[in-house]
Amino acid sequence: MLTNRERIQSLAEKRHLPQEDWRTLFATWTEEDRRFAANLACAEAVRQFQRKIFLRGLLEISNICKNDCYYCGIRRSNRQCHRYRLTDDEIVEAADSACKQGYRTVVMQGGEDTAFTTERLCGIIRRMKQAHPTCAITLSLGEREDYQELFDAGADRYLLRHETATPAHYAMLHPQELSWQHRVDCLRELRRIGYEVGCGFMVGSPFQTVEHLAAEMAFLEEMRPDMVGLGPFIPHAQTPFADKPAGSAELTLLCLSLVRLLLPTVNLPATTALATMLPDGYQQGIFAGANVVMPNASPAIAVENYKLYDNVHVERIPQNVLQSPLANTLASIGYSISMEK
Ligand code: 5AD
Repeated sequence: MLTNRERIQSLAEKRHLPQEDWRTLFATWTEEDRRFAANLACAEAVRQFQRKIFLRGLLEISNICKNDCYYCGIRRSNRQCHRYRLTDDEIVEAADSACKQGYRTVVMQGGEDTAFTTERLCGIIRRMKQAHPTCAITLSLGEREDYQELFDAGADRYLLRHETATPAHYAMLHPQELSWQHRVDCLRELRRIGYEVGCGFMVGSPFQTVEHLAAEMAFLEEMRPDMVGLGPFIPHAQTPFADKPAGSAELTLLCLSLVRLLLPTVNLPATTALATMLPDGYQQGIFAGANVVMPNASPAIAVENYKLYDNVHVERIPQNVLQSPLANTLASIGYSISMEK
């Protein structure tokens, strides 16, 4: 029988753990194990990226969504959500100012809003590419049929969290009309087209077990995404999961470290949800192996209303990224912001 330290050490060396070891690790980890994993993972991130943190500017283009996910604050049944949709000009202008602030990647994120037709999105992407040819465009717009067209228009990356690697668990978090298989098919399609692909899951989502967590790791090992988005589940008052407990910040940090050790070169953000749970969430995420931060670059209307969960932490960056509080925080822990794509 291995100890958890030996399991983590073996993961760091072989980039693999048998399912049984994943299960035991998730069932029995201690704070010491978590710190041990964080030290190895943080050192791995430094080997891969030096002490650079990559920024991506988040543009929340619409909170209108046709889906009704049980955990999400912008689900279609939430009548109390004030809905907005940015105009094409607002989106292009926000992207423009993000690029002028120094961002080299803009992430267009939104609910599954059918008003964003293929034609409309392609037009926006083309305008953004024309104005800022050296900037990468990341999309995070859910399940669509037009990934190829969006790619041809100039989109480079796509984020689509799989939410859970276990189909039966997926069915507990989503209404029947949504299928795990379809979501995973979307990820494979994105990959086939040539996007850099991000997937991810919530830590401590309702009904999640150690088996589910072990399955996450196997899923990531098989999928080998370019990016992994993971943050704690945080309840939203106007959802069916209002009374479910939030995921643990410590378990989230452990998962970040384990993912860094499993996939050493993966882009791993310290997420907004983590920063919402911990006052020094970005720092802690970085010390656990994260290498990306995604500040909010949306106009005020979006910042006020894009609420996936309660008390969302909003990190905004003033005109000069390099003089922002985030940059100072990073500098104080020996890191710097990188303007690379
Ligand atoms: N808590 C944490 N994360 C959430 N997301 C949606 N709702 C919540 C919540 N209540 C995450 C999902 C989604 C991403 C955009 O935000 O993983 O894919």
